[in-house]
Amino acid sequence: MEELPGPGPEIRGPPVSQSHAPAAHYDRVTAAWRYLLGEELHYGVFDEGVTDLAVATGELTRRMIEGGRIEQGVSILDVGCGTGAPACRLAQEFGAHVTGITTSEEGIRAAQERAKAAGLAAQTSFELRDGTDNGLPDASFDRVWILESSHLMRRRERLIGEAARVLKPGGRVVLCDITRQRPLDLAEVRRLREPLALLREVFGDARMEGLGDYRALMEGEGLTVDHEVDLTAATRPTFDAWQANADRYRTEVVELIGERAWTAFRDSCDVLAGFWDDGTLGYGLIAASRP
Ligand SMILES: C[S@@+](CC[C@H](N)C(=O)[O-])C[C@H]1O[C@@H](n2cnc3c(N)ncnc32)[C@H](O)[C@@H]1O
Repeated sequence: MEELPGPGPEIRGPPVSQSHAPAAHYDRVTAAWRYLLGEELHYGVFDEGVTDLAVATGELTRRMIEGGRIEQGVSILDVGCGTGAPACRLAQEFGAHVTGITTSEEGIRAAQERAKAAGLAAQTSFELRDGTDNGLPDASFDRVWILESSHLMRRRERLIGEAARVLKPGGRVVLCDITRQRPLDLAEVRRLREPLALLREVFGDARMEGLGDYRALMEGEGLTVDHEVDLTAATRPTFDAWQANADRYRTEVVELIGERAWTAFRDSCDVLAGFWDDGTLGYGLIAASRP
């Protein structure tokens, strides 16, 4: 019996041979994704005239900095820190003290290497922790930074609850991610079974929600939401850039994850572009303060 979709398109599909749980997924794909997505493992914001993916991913990070009102010397919890590129930028540009957490051991290793090479080891720490149950002390950070990791945490209310708990009074949480732009009913989920299964295979177990759902969760935790931006149109060129990287680094990527995964990645860019174009999925950024 088909499970009813949650508020977003649950990415479900036929049984596959490898685990799509985020930790196993990211351990498997991280090295290849550095070729496909770049050093910052997230979408790009392509402002007018921008064509370079690294510039565009840097711009998304800048939008997060703006929304989070990052200031000199703040302490930041980076939930879902990838390979540490945004954390190192925050440490470098703002003298911030950044604790990056992720469920991927591969990500921790890469982040620690990056920080050491940049002379930022004293200002950063990377730890294996789950964003939905982080075990960190109450009121211990000035900022909580959640850059494109929330879609991988099904217990979304626990993620936001933990973010609010570890924030100091006056602190801010800033989050950006893929968003669900409209509900999908069961018939549509069935019709889209194959493309949804492909996305799950390539990007892991994910669940998307609208910015309004994040707003409600944040407000439910007593946070004051004061910043919301729809980045759907600005992130749309990301898929062309990823496909161009797939073509450019085909040999390297196939060596790391195999021909089938390379093809699946390339095809998944078309699926995502279609969802962007037909108004199913998009991208948003939201920030809130703890009174
Ligand atoms: C799309 S990547 C984004 C990485 C990074 N924020 C960046 O922008 O470069 C998603 C990240 O979320 C992490 N992640 C997934 N589930 C998690 C969880 N439950 N707790 C903490 N991190 C998680 C993954 O390991 C990965 O590092």
